[in-house]
Amino acid sequence: MIAVEHEGSVVAVAMLAGELHAFDDTCPHAGCSLAEGELDGTTVECPCHMATFDVTTGEVVDGPATSGVATWSAAIANGALVLSEPQSPERDADAEAGREQGFHSATAGPDMDITILVELEHDAMRSQFDAIDALTDADELTEAWAVLAELLEVHASGEESVLYPRLARAADEGAEEADHAVREHNELRDSVAAVQRHPAGSEEWWQALRSARQVNEEHLQDEERDALPLFRESTDRAHREQLGREWVAFHEQHQHARGLSGEHVDPEDVVS
Ligand code: FES
Repeated sequence: MIAVEHEGSVVAVAMLAGELHAFDDTCPHAGCSLAEGELDGTTVECPCHMATFDVTTGEVVDGPATSGVATWSAAIANGALVLSEPQSPERDADAEAGREQGFHSATAGPDMDITILVELEHDAMRSQFDAIDALTDADELTEAWAVLAELLEVHASGEESVLYPRLARAADEGAEEADHAVREHNELRDSVAAVQRHPAGSEEWWQALRSARQVNEEHLQDEERDALPLFRESTDRAHREQLGREWVAFHEQHQHARGLSGEHVDPEDVVS
């Protein structure tokens, strides 16, 4: 897939069985580039939180995105790419619910408030733990766990890089919250390493996975109850949207946890 600029939009173009398909490159979930994702048949998977879209219709196939992307008819004429007027996708049934929660539709653009992006990623983690629970085949478990382990590390490192240093400065209790959160991330990193030590699907693996899920869930709930509301109270929306853009850029830079070690992080390095 490639991304091209067209009349103020970035359009992803894919070649499938000799036919061109063009669709909005910007994932409506949190703005990542779909051209950077994976194409599997007619489905493209967003590199950031694995939402999938049908590239022939633009419709969302699977969340966390709640609405689809625009599509264009595409052809090559005289050596140049020619695009039609954009077509809006059919809305997913969840789109209405998503808008009620404050998420924007594809036409309104994604909500870039970092606290919303962080919470959306919490949902993606919980969904992936659920998806793993429904599997039994060792190869599928290995693959699904690899996706989740990457997501956990990118999320933790993203918070330590983009959110927590600002949280530490935003409010009196911010430093304490950020310090506590980094320690929880380190506990989670130990839990992830424990899962990796066993063959996927073995009894020990499931036990380590349940333990990692519990450690993660406790951290998510702490953050949703304390750190994120505190950050919202202490900052304005423009600042949170700026951080949201940094959050998306961090995810694009570290797709598949590229460049992230998974090692413990010193809370002092984040908070000071
Ligand atoms: S799924 Fe695409 S940005 Fe989250």
